[in-house]
Amino acid sequence: MVPSEYVTQEAPARDAAQGRPDPNRQPAEKLIVALDFPDAPQALALVDRLEGQCRWFKVGLELYLATGNSVVETLKRRGFSVFLDLKLHDIPNTVAGAMRSVARLGADMLTVHASGGPVMLTAAAEALAGVPKPPRLLAVTVLTSMDAAQLTTIGISATPGEHALLLAQIAASSGISGLVCSPEEAAQMRKILPASTLVTPGIRPAGAAIGDQKRIATPASALAAGADYLVVGRPITQAADPADAASHILREME
Ligand code: C5P
Repeated sequence: MVPSEYVTQEAPARDAAQGRPDPNRQPAEKLIVALDFPDAPQALALVDRLEGQCRWFKVGLELYLATGNSVVETLKRRGFSVFLDLKLHDIPNTVAGAMRSVARLGADMLTVHASGGPVMLTAAAEALAGVPKPPRLLAVTVLTSMDAAQLTTIGISATPGEHALLLAQIAASSGISGLVCSPEEAAQMRKILPASTLVTPGIRPAGAAIGDQKRIATPASALAAGADYLVVGRPITQAADPADAASHILREME
């Protein structure tokens, strides 16, 4: 049970001005390629191969910790949209400060862990409220690499779907309407929080290696479930021909 003083359904979305993106936009506007590389030359070599096909790139911890802000600035200078996936999770004051520091970078999306709780989430949303052209803030619900057995080991007896929904409702009532969730629970999220922006990793085209992901779906079924953006890493980055892999996925998304 979440104490009622923390979850109020009435909390206005502090990022409402950004709204849900148009579900009918082009597939290239919905595909986010995860640049999980150890250095900028490797990441930018992939960007070069996908230029003209892909418009969104995700910079996660591996690349960001290796390169700092420069890779984000380079991608922005080249006209790409950037999802900066730092999955922040700390005390409210620290996360609010981190939001203000990172907002200056010009990334288009930014993540915090919903499990940081309502006070932290509210502090994150409020810290961005004063920033001109703020990034879209996304709350990460349950990682797509977690299954029911792993949740049990950290003391959570709910299913991943139930727990993801609880975290999504906490994020929504803290003023955050962007969510990262598995495609498996996207349909339920869309039903309960229809105005939310859903970003789904755990995307695997038929026949692709699953790796460490647990709660997965194909590109077409993730979109059918109501996802607004698909995050795809290894099925593109580790493919023998990344441009060909990306174009297959974009065709399936159509
Ligand atoms: O290679 P793969 O397609 O599994 O990459 C998925 C990407 O999405 C990774 O960069 C990972 O950090 C990210 N991600 C995820 N699950 C979440 C949030 C982000 O897999 N819940």
